[in-house]
Amino acid sequence: GTAEHPHKEHWSFGGIFGHYDRAQLQRGFKVYREVCSSCHGLTLVSFRNLMEEGGPSFTEGQIRLLSAEYKITDGPNETGEMFERPGRPSDRFPAPFPNEQAARVSNGGAYPPDFSVLAKARTYERGWTNGYIIWDLITGYQEHGADYIHSLLNGYDKPVPAEHTVPQGSHYNPFFPGGNIAMPKPLNDGQVEYTDGTPTTIDQYSRDVTAFMMWAAEPHLEARKRMGFMVLIFLGVFAALVYFTKKKVWSDVA
Ligand code: HEM
Repeated sequence: GTAEHPHKEHWSFGGIFGHYDRAQLQRGFKVYREVCSSCHGLTLVSFRNLMEEGGPSFTEGQIRLLSAEYKITDGPNETGEMFERPGRPSDRFPAPFPNEQAARVSNGGAYPPDFSVLAKARTYERGWTNGYIIWDLITGYQEHGADYIHSLLNGYDKPVPAEHTVPQGSHYNPFFPGGNIAMPKPLNDGQVEYTDGTPTTIDQYSRDVTAFMMWAAEPHLEARKRMGFMVLIFLGVFAALVYFTKKKVWSDVA
């Protein structure tokens, strides 16, 4: 076997009180934009989402400037033609390729999946293939996708096992199912500039971009977890009320 299980990491968004780290999401977006976005889309996310509460929380001014740097295909206009214009905060991220076929042609036949929901999709798939699915339901563990992506991005440059062959155009990575991935090693130390003193290492980049992908896939995670906690408190109070009501109602019967 060439498959290696992803390593469990600590994520700020894990657990009952999980929350995103704003600065991390902003760094992760920088990594996505400068490294991954040439191949991977983010087509379900709008620029304005990046300024919403519970996410990277960029300012409106920053998002206006950012969106205007993208070219958006719009139309048809009065004469029936499509045209390009600068992006607006309400636009979605344009796809890196016109369609899946074009993406495959540029990537040796492989398809770089869209990032919009990938981190959550892999959470369920990896949880299932790792055989943890029941245990996950009991413990509420929801970070398999993040663990997997982080391990995958750190999983290049490993020695190829003796019995294993890597076909042309493929790259050995023990965390990818089958061990051979079409994606070339995307990250290198020092590749993306950080201005807040955070280490510029593959490991840090991959944590940050993974957190960003998790936010893209689940932008309302914080609100969901807050609500879940309040529901638990409500149920606790409600159970107590039911218990004392029952006691009173049945007090002269038993
Ligand atoms: C697949 C992440 C940059 C091309 C993937 C997968 C992830 C990922 C999580 C999915 C693995 C799976 O299916 O389970 C990233 C990140 C990047 C990045 C975080 C930036 C840091 C790139 C770049 C390219 C690329 C720059 C193109 C040069 C691909 C391709 C696949 C892929 C072709 C499909 C692999 C296969 O099915 O064999 N990437 N990627 N990626 N990526 Fe990337």
